Amino acid sequence: MMKTNPFKPTAGAEPPVLVGRDTILKDFEIGIEEGVGAPGRLMRITGPRGSGKTVLLTELGDIARQHDWHVVDVTATDHLPELICRRLEKTDEIDYSVELDFMVVKAKAQKDSSQKLEDVYEVMGHAVRKLTKEGKGLLVTIDEVQDASVEDIREIAVAVQHLIRERLNIAFVFAGLTAGVMSLLGEDGPTFLRRAYPEELDTIPVDEVATAFHATFEKSGVHIDEDALAEAAEATAGYAYLIQLVGYYVWRSAQVRTGASIRSISMEDVRSGVVTARREFERTVLETAIARLPRTAMEYLLVMAENRLASSTGEIAERMGVSASSLTATRKMLVSRQLIEPTARGYVDFSIPFLREYLIEHRQALLARYGVEG
Ligand SMILES: Nc1ncnc2c1ncn2[C@@H]1O[C@H](COP(=O)(O)OP(=O)(O)OP(=O)(O)O)[C@@H](O)[C@H]1O
Ligand SMILES: [Mg+2]
Repeated sequence: MMKTNPFKPTAGAEPPVLVGRDTILKDFEIGIEEGVGAPGRLMRITGPRGSGKTVLLTELGDIARQHDWHVVDVTATDHLPELICRRLEKTDEIDYSVELDFMVVKAKAQKDSSQKLEDVYEVMGHAVRKLTKEGKGLLVTIDEVQDASVEDIREIAVAVQHLIRERLNIAFVFAGLTAGVMSLLGEDGPTFLRRAYPEELDTIPVDEVATAFHATFEKSGVHIDEDALAEAAEATAGYAYLIQLVGYYVWRSAQVRTGASIRSISMEDVRSGVVTARREFERTVLETAIARLPRTAMEYLLVMAENRLASSTGEIAERMGVSASSLTATRKMLVSRQLIEPTARGYVDFSIPFLREYLIEHRQALLARYGVEG
């Protein structure tokens, strides 16, 4: 019988083992159990593309459901407060009377913002009051929150804050790209959300990845030696999407070698699987990230790639032969596209694993795109 590849290298797909998230899952669960005011009831999850934000939201939703809570998951779009209202309206377990239909109709009709604010508060309040009375609660999650408007987020935040003050069972978790979320919460963003429990999804310890790989292979009745295991784990750089890619292609290499009833993974399987995984990663993540960058931005990245660690922004300008201030817009754009991030005042580093290596390796071809000789 053909064994199924257990790894899931697809956006949003639940991995066979959720690596490195024990603490946050526990904190959230405690938040649900502890009652109103627990920090786990208000969370912000940030991280680069493919770091596992969506999957984590799904997982938190599962925990909430296990505690009999109702869950509304939305992805940021226009008219987000209305979308949340509509989702709540469709919930069977909350009996929406004529009263609520009326409110939703009103919300649609009245675009005036002060009125709208009251409506999302009322609709959520109606649901949460009912659920709280039954010993349940409501979890609202927003994914890709960096794409939401500050006004919409403020409106939702105000409503959530009021419901918490009324001692109702509500939890609110939002996830998005780090730089985008920070700018959403910056300056005129809602202060209330700035104090949300922060969870930055950066590198997962490689030994935890090794343990997860081991468990996943063993569960499928596939043996892997210590050194092969260590090499596979190392190749993921502790990056969620790469964990699935490496696992998937290592499995596949072994399957190609041994046939359908795969029993063990050899070092050669790991090596060839990692090569394919890395190529796939370059194609889906790295190439997408640097596609159609302006020439100055590409040159900026290539100069950064020459340093093994973080780069001084002053030194980048010097090496490019321009003034530091003329590169401000370029740097900001690269930060907002989540290619690089500030590590200290006046220093930046890459946000995506293997981007540096990719730039070094393909320097000539990348410059040729702009008609420049490398
Ligand atoms: N904790 C984890 N352990 C192992 N694999 C994970 C983990 N979290 C996510 N993954 C895997 O990583 C990949 C990306 O996950 P997900 O889509 O949640 O990332 P994301 O941060 O939402 O990405 P994007 O910013 O592109 O939406 C998926 O293949 C998923 O199975
Ligand atoms: Mg996602």
